[in-house]
Amino acid sequence: MRILLTGGAGFIGRHVLARLLRRGHEVRVLDSLRADVHRGAPWVPPKGVELRVADVRDRGAVEDALAGMQAVIHLAAKVGLGVDMDDMPDYASSNDAGTGVLLAAMARRGVGRLTLASSMVVYGEGLGLCAEHGAVRPGPRLEASLAAGDFEPPCPHCGRALQVRLVDEATPFDPRNAYATSKAAQEHYAANWARATGGSAAMMRYHNVYGPGMPRDTPYAGVASIFASALRAGRAPQVFEDGGQRRDFIHVADVAAATVLACERHAGGVDAFNVGSGTPRTVGGMAQALADALRGPAPVVTGRYRLGDVRHITADSARLRDVLGWRPEIGFEAGMAELAALPAGAAA
Ligand code: UD1
Repeated sequence: MRILLTGGAGFIGRHVLARLLRRGHEVRVLDSLRADVHRGAPWVPPKGVELRVADVRDRGAVEDALAGMQAVIHLAAKVGLGVDMDDMPDYASSNDAGTGVLLAAMARRGVGRLTLASSMVVYGEGLGLCAEHGAVRPGPRLEASLAAGDFEPPCPHCGRALQVRLVDEATPFDPRNAYATSKAAQEHYAANWARATGGSAAMMRYHNVYGPGMPRDTPYAGVASIFASALRAGRAPQVFEDGGQRRDFIHVADVAAATVLACERHAGGVDAFNVGSGTPRTVGGMAQALADALRGPAPVVTGRYRLGDVRHITADSARLRDVLGWRPEIGFEAGMAELAALPAGAAA
């Protein structure tokens, strides 16, 4: 297929691009190479790939870039946590206005196939199981509770401790920060577009992605990258909360494979797919695994917290396996060992 890949110069984008090329697709990349992400030497696309340096909010550039394309993989976005209120306009503009510009141009050009990078953060605290009230949706954690070291979100009805449940794609949205809100809105716009135009939209709700090329020392560095950088510099990883918060760390190659599969196979209606390994880990456990692999200092549990963080982000990716036939191939131990073995200068 002829595919427009937005954000193709980014961390996940480069892996998606490589995979698309290996699968024989023709790819055009649209990327603004925004300065807060792309520091140092400018990115050079692989041979045969056309790079258009433009912002996805640039109507003319987007419409031009869509000429002759059959599908779009939309990864270009401002990522991060969205805790600083001053960043709110940029999330709304880069992610939501940008997606609006892209979808309108796709409608005009008759390009009817979209694969969108979304996120697990759209579910907020997800689902918990209360001994008395069954499956419940925990509310936002109170700052006073966090400050007191009380990190687990309680049952909203009786305050009891909850057991964590994996969320599926039907779980209602409950975004807790500007980034999460912008991802939820992107999905809604894409669904509106698909219904109005008869196009297909696959929303890929990524878990915590790690692997070669991970951003470091930028506002977009994920925790695995931050810990690996600290350990390489001989410093202990600083684990927030009590380290018991759970995430599903998924290798970027597996994420790229899921994204390309969705682009190739999903050709009708609106569908969402959680993209995770299926094996949640604690952040403290991940820090220890990296410290062991790099033979660095033991992680320090700091009790610090970020207000916009959710406690546990763990979802069920069965749908992706069942509908698209995807299987993650890189296990946690192998992935962490690879991250640890990357040379100090390499990303991550
Ligand atoms: C991450 C992604 C987000 C994606 C989401 C999907 C990044 C920067 N963010 O959000 O784009 O949508 O996964 O699930 O990749 N922590 C520490 N020490 C640190 C930094 C963080 O303990 O120095 C903890 C945080 O408190 C949090 C966990 O590590 O509990 C993960 O944080 P982070 O890597 O920033 O990712 P998410 O917020 O999960």
